[in-house]
Amino acid sequence: MRCCLVLFLVFAFVAGQELPLAEPCDEELCQLPNCRCSTTSIPRGLLARDTPQFVMLTFDDNVNIINIETYREILYNRVNSNNCSSGVTFYVNHEYNNYQLVNELYNQGFEIALHSITHQTPQSYWQEATPEIMAREFGDQKLQMAHFANIPYESLKGVRIPFLQLGGNSSFQAMSEYGLEYDCTWPTITYTDPPLWPYTLDYASIQDCVISPCPTASIPGVWIIPMVSWRDLNGTPCSMVDSCPAVPPFDDEDAWFRFIVTNFERHYLSNRAPFGFFIHEWYLAVNPTVKRALSRFIDLVNNLNDAFLVKSYDVIEWIKNPVPVDEYRQQPCKTFTPSLCLPASCGPLASEHNEVDYWMQICNVCPRVYPWINNPLGI
Ligand SMILES: *[C@@H]1O[C@H](CO)[C@@H](O)[C@H](O)[C@H]1NC(C)=O
Ligand SMILES: *[C@@H]1O[C@H](CO)[C@@H](O)[C@H](O)[C@H]1NC(C)=O
Ligand SMILES: [Zn+2]
Repeated sequence: MRCCLVLFLVFAFVAGQELPLAEPCDEELCQLPNCRCSTTSIPRGLLARDTPQFVMLTFDDNVNIINIETYREILYNRVNSNNCSSGVTFYVNHEYNNYQLVNELYNQGFEIALHSITHQTPQSYWQEATPEIMAREFGDQKLQMAHFANIPYESLKGVRIPFLQLGGNSSFQAMSEYGLEYDCTWPTITYTDPPLWPYTLDYASIQDCVISPCPTASIPGVWIIPMVSWRDLNGTPCSMVDSCPAVPPFDDEDAWFRFIVTNFERHYLSNRAPFGFFIHEWYLAVNPTVKRALSRFIDLVNNLNDAFLVKSYDVIEWIKNPVPVDEYRQQPCKTFTPSLCLPASCGPLASEHNEVDYWMQICNVCPRVYPWINNPLGI
């Protein structure tokens, strides 16, 4: 059955025909580790109190000498209560990115994920992007990131599309072609209480489509980490913390801490679906109070015996093979091989898409021209 489905997919792709429409999820057929229905129920039917509460802290956009200061200050050298390093995920786009600093983040044990090569406007570019364009923006970015930051190609697994603008099936088709395992672009405002757990696209999703078009094809094996919305002080949903309209005063650290904890508790005190803290660094730089409140929140998580600040991909790994929190705490820490940087500073590099001369800080030999879509290595 699965083989015929795969053959059909290959045929449909080659022939440029439509993908199979996803059918309502069948829990009998859709089983872990490779398939999971979209649902608010806890994997393998664990009780909430036996379920590790994962916290996913993510930052978007390029890494540079300004925002790295915040990352160094509040994220480095943190340890969860199981004595394993805390994880954070960075969705990095290419333009003005400092690849030497990406290498540094990777070597701190953080996850690097993809946020496109061009990050271009208008937003309709992403809404209308074909599978081919998505492959150039994300599939090629995987190669580009591994090359310039000198980090393993296989360590790059996640995608977030700019402006949280889905393009229907197209990004997911590209992901499945390039071995990208999960997407964290798709907000939900309906499934927040109890919140939606991550799931795969083998079958039709129950998730509300906040920024259409959403995928409706069956794309086996690609995981969705829903961006479960927070509620601001007026109850308005917001998918990124820095997009919440009604927030506590920017000089009241305690109020900010309570605001974060209130949102956390919607997960921790219900079905323990992974809790997302999705933000851009500039918001913390502009509002030091929020930065301190976040730091306090991470302290809190680091001190809880059943909550863990982890890389987003670690959440997928746990879901594929869910174990109770007692067992999880006994597992050896995840390890990785450091991948050091032989730094090169390159420029001025002429660009083929505009008149700008760029400089690049990389861990590889200098490219001939500024890398861009359709020439991701700048050769
Ligand atoms: C996604 O694929 C399904 C199945 O082929 C199709 O019905 C749907 O129109 C596609 N979505 C978009 C936005 O193209
Ligand atoms: C963590 O490490 C500390 C100090 O190294 C040790 O006292 C403690 O028992 C360890 N805890 C766990 C859960 O391994
Ligand atoms: Zn962005």
